[in-house]
Amino acid sequence: MKVLVIGRGGREHAIVWKLSQSPRVTKVYCAPGNAGTAIDGENVNLDITEFDKLVRFAKKEQIGLTVVGPEEPLTQGLVDAFQKEGLRIFGPNRSAARIEGSKVFSKQLMRHADVPTAEFKIFDHPEPAKYWVDTREYPVVVKADGLAAGKGVIVCNTGEEAKRAIDRVMIHEEFGGKAGRQIVIEKRLEGEELSVLALVSGRAILPLPGSQDHKAALDGDKGPNTGGMGAYCPATKATPELMSKIESEVFVPVVHGMKRARYPFSGLMYAGIMLTNQGPRVLEFNARFGDPETQPLMIRLKSDLLDLLEAVVDEKLGDLTEDQVVWDPRPAVCVVMAAGGYPGKYENGKPIAGLDEAAKLPDVKVFHAGTKREDNRVVTDGGRVLGVTALGDTLADARKRAYEAVAKISFKGAHYRTDIGDKGLKG
Ligand code: AMP
Ligand code: GLY
Repeated sequence: MKVLVIGRGGREHAIVWKLSQSPRVTKVYCAPGNAGTAIDGENVNLDITEFDKLVRFAKKEQIGLTVVGPEEPLTQGLVDAFQKEGLRIFGPNRSAARIEGSKVFSKQLMRHADVPTAEFKIFDHPEPAKYWVDTREYPVVVKADGLAAGKGVIVCNTGEEAKRAIDRVMIHEEFGGKAGRQIVIEKRLEGEELSVLALVSGRAILPLPGSQDHKAALDGDKGPNTGGMGAYCPATKATPELMSKIESEVFVPVVHGMKRARYPFSGLMYAGIMLTNQGPRVLEFNARFGDPETQPLMIRLKSDLLDLLEAVVDEKLGDLTEDQVVWDPRPAVCVVMAAGGYPGKYENGKPIAGLDEAAKLPDVKVFHAGTKREDNRVVTDGGRVLGVTALGDTLADARKRAYEAVAKISFKGAHYRTDIGDKGLKG
């Protein structure tokens, strides 16, 4: 079968790499892809917004399954466009993707389904929002309703900060007029974050091992928020008891609620969880694989990814056998190497050295994110450049191997966190 992966990041490279190992896959295309997906598959020069061209390509090449990486095409209805043409595609349709595309939708869904989440209120106008903030006894988080490239969430320390955040979103429309028409304001929660990704189809749910992302740019969770500077899996805190609590208290009510409301979810549902003293609380849902969580997950998946994705699309998730879902017991660590200046302004086009040397290390895979090939060399082409991923007998070992590989790679301005996985080592 020929498959097509849509996107250009580290998550997509990990999916391409894993699908290329399937005995049933003859060819993996990636649109538009990066320098890494061009090695493990073949890049197609089509943008993720060109729905008509993507549909035409899938028809012409007789693609048996398309897998969507990023959220934008999902919320804009790429899955609907493919399904209308009878093409098989992995991911939620437009109405189900609202679980990520609209914070208002997702919080209301959680309220109706009685899912543990931060106390919140929805506002259409700035003045009542500010009044509400003034009457709170706790710090809040201000969230623009719509997608804002992960930037529409402002964690506030004081009421004054919250009021400025409300103005930024609703009056200055910093995250776009549409995204900021409504806001969610919610109680700020304290704790460690856990990412739980689950395959979902109809009423069936298959949670994948829990992982932890590292969102802040600098060591010790300091500095500005990023798309994610590294991840490890399995998360030490994701005990079987906690995972089964999250399945029954979060996934089951949400998945069943969506099915009952006639916007059933099909694809990968990602719950961002805060582990508070009162128990797990949902911070957000995503309608797609996490980046960088997917990189350690894919290096640990021993069975065929195509089996899992097809089981979702064909609504046969419940029929998967034990030998179709096999995880390497060894932990994995992914360290993101980012461009100088990221998450702020950065320059592209810096040549990357040492990729071949790093690739020679056993149980290491360097996933590309913001890279491209230029005159026979690989150069940087994005903020998050590489996801250097390693397996190890223990978490400490995986971490050591990942950083050994990182040490072999260099490009001008490169920066990375030196404490990925430490949260898990502390227990
Ligand atoms: P979201 O897109 O809703 O996940 O928010 C992005 C990030 O903001 C999360 O990963 C958290 O680090 C932080 N965040 C969101 N909501 C809250 C909250 N209620 N309390 C504390 N931090 C939050
Ligand atoms: N790792 C965060 C995300 O994928 O949204």
